[in-house]
Amino acid sequence: MAKTAQQGDHAAGDNVRVIAITSGKGGVGKTHIAANLAYVLSKMKKKVLVLDADVGLANIDIILGLTPEYNLHHVLSGEKTISEVVVPGPGGIKILPSASGIQEMANLSKGQKLTLLDEMNSMNEDMDFMLIDTAAGIAGNVMYFNMAAKEIIVVVSPEPTSLTDAYALIKVLYNAYDEKRFMVLVNMVKDSDEAGEVYRKLSNATEHFLNVSVEYLGHILHDECVRKAVVQQKALVEIYPYSPVSKCLFTVAKKLCREEPESYEGGSMKFFWKAIVDKDRG
Ligand SMILES: Nc1ncnc2c1ncn2[C@@H]1O[C@H](COP(=O)(O)OP(=O)(O)OP(=O)(O)O)[C@@H](O)[C@H]1O
Ligand SMILES: [Mg+2]
Repeated sequence: MAKTAQQGDHAAGDNVRVIAITSGKGGVGKTHIAANLAYVLSKMKKKVLVLDADVGLANIDIILGLTPEYNLHHVLSGEKTISEVVVPGPGGIKILPSASGIQEMANLSKGQKLTLLDEMNSMNEDMDFMLIDTAAGIAGNVMYFNMAAKEIIVVVSPEPTSLTDAYALIKVLYNAYDEKRFMVLVNMVKDSDEAGEVYRKLSNATEHFLNVSVEYLGHILHDECVRKAVVQQKALVEIYPYSPVSKCLFTVAKKLCREEPESYEGGSMKFFWKAIVDKDRG
């Protein structure tokens, strides 16, 4: 008999690092970063699943030229299993498309919750990373993904509004959801000095006003080849493997691998989905 998610069995995916890639302001590069970081991690022999948790337009499947037939909605309705919905992306990464499924998650019935947990539990392959490409901002749904993920990467750009919005996001996650650990990734910079400056401004503000220290994860240069890769619907690292931007992404991925949190209790895929479906319990 198949085990259910509630039986507390040791299921596949128990050691997955679940990382939300989020931002206060939109358009700072989350989707590009999720896709390419996943690609780079996969080149480093890690098994990576990207969850598209944004219902917006420029989604990860589009920037990678994929046309998924099904999405999370079909899992929740019981029409498809999770493995029928997951699509293979470049370099062996896997993508779980969400589309309308993400919005439905706010109002799941008990049966749907159990279906989802069982489905996620049944992913019979061990993953090393699950990267979540979230929507921007502080709306409830985005916050739940950030809260349920064990680690959070806040993407910022040098634009002043990106910084103030990132601060607002961290403030909400800290005050309302008790999140204390944030990694900051500065995108679209001209050099590492500019990134350091952006990071310092944000970290000074969070330390001074919230008493929260944020970690510096790294920077990604502004480069036209990012846009070119999007137009070609290919992972940038795949078509421009030796570009300075690719180098930045490899540096970030290596740092991420080195800095695994000591305790990963509550960080598995199973805990993530449980936190998502249990969010209304108060
Ligand atoms: N390092 C970079 N250099 C140049 N252009 C970039 C860089 N990063 C992202 N872009 C461009 O910025 C735009 C926004 O990127 P992306 O869609 O990844 O942002 P996002 O944060 O996911 O946006 P949204 O909040 O709408 O989901 C895209 O056109 C992308 O090509
Ligand atoms: Mg996006």
